[in-house]
Order: sequence, then C-alpha cells, then structure tokens
Amino acid sequence: MRFITVNSYEELSRKAANIIASQVISKPNCVLGLATGSSPVGTYKKLIEYCNNGDLDFSTVTSVNLDEYVGLTGENDQSYRYFMNTNLFNHVNIIPENTYVPNGCAENLEEEGKNYDKLIADLGGIDLQLLGIGLDGHIGFNEPDEFFVGATHPVTLDPSTIEANARFFVSMDEVPRKAITMGMMSIMQAKKILLIANGSNKKEILEKAMYGEITPKVPASILQLHPDVTVIFSEN
Ligand code: F6R
Repeated sequence: MRFITVNSYEELSRKAANIIASQVISKPNCVLGLATGSSPVGTYKKLIEYCNNGDLDFSTVTSVNLDEYVGLTGENDQSYRYFMNTNLFNHVNIIPENTYVPNGCAENLEEEGKNYDKLIADLGGIDLQLLGIGLDGHIGFNEPDEFFVGATHPVTLDPSTIEANARFFVSMDEVPRKAITMGMMSIMQAKKILLIANGSNKKEILEKAMYGEITPKVPASILQLHPDVTVIFSEN
C-alpha cells in the first residue's frame, strides 16, 4: 500500500486526477469505478480540465459507480446519478450509455445487485476503483457489520452515515435511510484502488483501516489485503 500525505485538498485532487488520467491514457478502454461524496469533487474538476484541454479522452472509457440511494431517480438532484452527471459526465466526452450507477428504484434490489455484478464481470472487471471513506470506515455503503458482503446489495445506512449525509439535504427527514452498494467482491477484484480522504476528522479512521485489525467492523480494513492500493490523504 502506498500512503501519500499531501498538504491541501487541491494537491490531493491533482494527484488523484493524475493517477486516473494515467489509467485512461495507458488503457483508453478501461473501466473506472467511481465514487460520489465531497472527496472526489476536486478530482473530477481536474479531470474535466484535462479533458477540455485535449489532454484526456473519455470516449472509450466505461464507468461503474459504487452506490445509489434507494428510492431516488436519476432526475432527483440528491441522487448519485445526478451527482455524477453534474460533477463529471456532462462535462467530459464519456458516452452516457457507458456510465453505470446502480438503480436505486429497481423493484427488486437483490436482482439489481446480481445484474450489476454481472455487468461488472462482463466488462472484464474494474481497472481502477476510486474510493472515499466514511467516518465509520465504510467504503461504498458497506457499513460496519459482523461480516463482509461480497455482492452488490441493498443496505440500511448507519445513523452516523445518515447524519454525515444530512449536510447535502434540506432536512434530516429527507436523507434516505437505504442505499444499494457495490459489495466487497467487485471492489477487491479491481486491479487498482485509489482511496482519497481529506480533513483531520478522517485521520483516525484512516489509520485504523490501514494499519489496524482487518475486520468487517471497519469495512475499509479489507483493503489491507489488496495488492495495489494508493491512499492520498490531506489533513486540510
Ligand atoms: C460515495 C461513497 C461513500 C463516500 C464516503 C465519504 O459514493 O461510496 O463511501 O465515499 O461516505 O464521503 P465524503 O467524500 O463525502 O466524505
């Protein structure tokens, strides 16, 4: 595992974007696993800049996102599909049909999970998976539990995650309680993993995840078993 500490969110975003850009340049038809949340916003801004400068071409890239809230359509501005469209996809030359986000409105979420895993397998797996980390150690929405879940599956979000997500909603009541998330199998089978975290409040959980006991109670700790993980952390 490579652990890179930087001094600012700007530097974190530039480094993360450079790693993703190098993946896209070295394998133009790669599969990128993408994340939402506040951490990747700066990274996506940089990627948009590189694409608009003509330095990066997304036209043959496929993307698969980690997760989606249950019950929100892609038109809902709180959905992760909407987030991806507005923070990245609408501004680069990726083909919309090649961008995948789990369907949080699927009638049968278990079935949706199975289809999503099959889709990822049929694409040949993920070349580079971008991750953030929750204050409780979640990756995707794999929350602390008694066991790791491999498949893409529906989850009930932890109270601490609901509270953390509330900053994006008008009121606490509007924060979805359920989500569908990629499981540990597709994440761990990604050829490379890039985890980004910023803010002094992430330091403790990050250290626990990277150097502590490997346990489903700290979901990100499973990454210690992955052969190619880069972590970029900025305390500011
Ligand atoms: C988002 C996701 C989550 C976030 C995590 C950190 O798609 O899967 O695991 O990466 O909650 O969120 P931020 O970056 O907002 O601190």
